[in-house]
Amino acid sequence: MTVTIVGSQLGDEGKGGVVDLYGDAADVVARYQGGDNAGHTVVHDGTKYKLSLVPSGAVRGKIGVLGNGCVVNPETLFDEIDTLRERGLEPDVRVAERAHVILPYHRALDGIEEAEKEDLAAGTTKRGIGPTYEDKAGRRGVRIGDLLDPDVLRERLEYVVPQKKALAEEVFEKETGEEFDIDHLYETYREYGERLADEEMTVDCGTFLQERVDIGESVMLEGAQGTSLDIDHGVYPYVTSSNPTAGGATVGTGLGPTVIGDGEVIGIVKAYLSRVGTGPLPTELGGVEDQTPDYHGDVDAAADEEELATYIRDEGGEYGTVTGRPRRVGWLDMPMLRHAARANGFTGLAVNHIDVLAGLETVEVGHSYEFDGEEIFTMPPTTEQWARCEATFESFDGWPEVDWAAVAAEGYEAIPENAQTYLEYIADELDTPVYAVGVGPGREETIVVENPYE
Ligand code: GDP
Ligand code: IMO
Ligand code: MG
Repeated sequence: MTVTIVGSQLGDEGKGGVVDLYGDAADVVARYQGGDNAGHTVVHDGTKYKLSLVPSGAVRGKIGVLGNGCVVNPETLFDEIDTLRERGLEPDVRVAERAHVILPYHRALDGIEEAEKEDLAAGTTKRGIGPTYEDKAGRRGVRIGDLLDPDVLRERLEYVVPQKKALAEEVFEKETGEEFDIDHLYETYREYGERLADEEMTVDCGTFLQERVDIGESVMLEGAQGTSLDIDHGVYPYVTSSNPTAGGATVGTGLGPTVIGDGEVIGIVKAYLSRVGTGPLPTELGGVEDQTPDYHGDVDAAADEEELATYIRDEGGEYGTVTGRPRRVGWLDMPMLRHAARANGFTGLAVNHIDVLAGLETVEVGHSYEFDGEEIFTMPPTTEQWARCEATFESFDGWPEVDWAAVAAEGYEAIPENAQTYLEYIADELDTPVYAVGVGPGREETIVVENPYE
């Protein structure tokens, strides 16, 4: 049985917390895409763990797998493993031999290109994600398996590094250092390969996971980023370079689509919207790039909106886990969620952060868009069209600030009535049941309505 956890919006929906909660029943937690651009927060025994690469389940003694669809920076990998060990944990992490390696020149080029792109820049995490996936598709990448074979590693580097160096120096006119030096890279990455081999960390991912499924173990597939950051289904080009959508779980692990489809696909929804990085955002509150339809028209309202944005940002701790950047915030965008529900085939939803909105008089939702004079209910395919969409809002009566830990202990019925109305609206519109409700960052602050493994 597999359970796939997918972000339904723009990342940071609280996937790590849900993986931690449901992952309790899992034997293996595997990531299928992305790399150390992710930032997942897991609160365990009062201690906060921030992981950007290692699967969240590793904190709780599960086998953590980085699937073939991931891009792996060995430096981050070993840093995170060493940090977890220093904190008394014994993470068991495996890495797919087919996964691609992020090399220092990828990171350098990520930064260089972001600066060059101006309006087209996605505001990347500068972790080298895009350039590594580019090389994967260009069939000039270095894979984890190559690190274990020094001759192959040398051959790959000798082909690719001069091209990268020329790109940096001649096209972008930048000075380069040891991140573009073949000998230095060869020595450093060969050593990483030795450590991977010594610690017996590499696997043939699909086979490894299928064997687990066959003996009746439970596998959790942990998505990073979110549907609107998907390179195919997101708001291109303000996206990441992989497929966070559920289809990515099959390609990025080597488990067949029927195996994934036999299980559950849970969409993680933040009760409002937040994003780091650039691009349009029809339901945005305030912000430098205010796309909100003139909100309710007047200057005072605009100032209020800015205040509201700051309030939600602070209440929700909306500052990037990896980069610390303040996130842009907005109201829930239902066309975005309808798009996500279809693209992923959600079987259940986890709606997080309803506590953050507590105390507001009204909570608004972008129910549909007005697009060229017509009402539409899902996202249009181009980002230029999306930028022309004006959200049509529906208002919900707010719910009070309550003792959320007590609510969590009591269960769904204890959730303030107006918040229940809000949750039911989301479930109805997406035709998908709510499996869990997040009312705070801690593991005990999640109300489980349905456990997919039971
Ligand atoms: P991920 O990238 O989707 O795993 O999410 P992040 O960990 O980057 O961001 C989610 C943040 O919200 C973390 O700081 C979580 O501890 C926190 N969080 C998760 N669920 C809830 C919730 O229901 N309420 C509140 N207040 N915080 C939450
Ligand atoms: P988690 O897993 C939020 C955003 C970046 C940028 C775009 C491309 O924590 O939800 P990249 O470095 O991937 O090339 O950046 O995607 N981004 C995220 N935003 N949460 C994430 O991960 C993100 N990973 C990437 O801000 O706009
Ligand atoms: Mg995050």
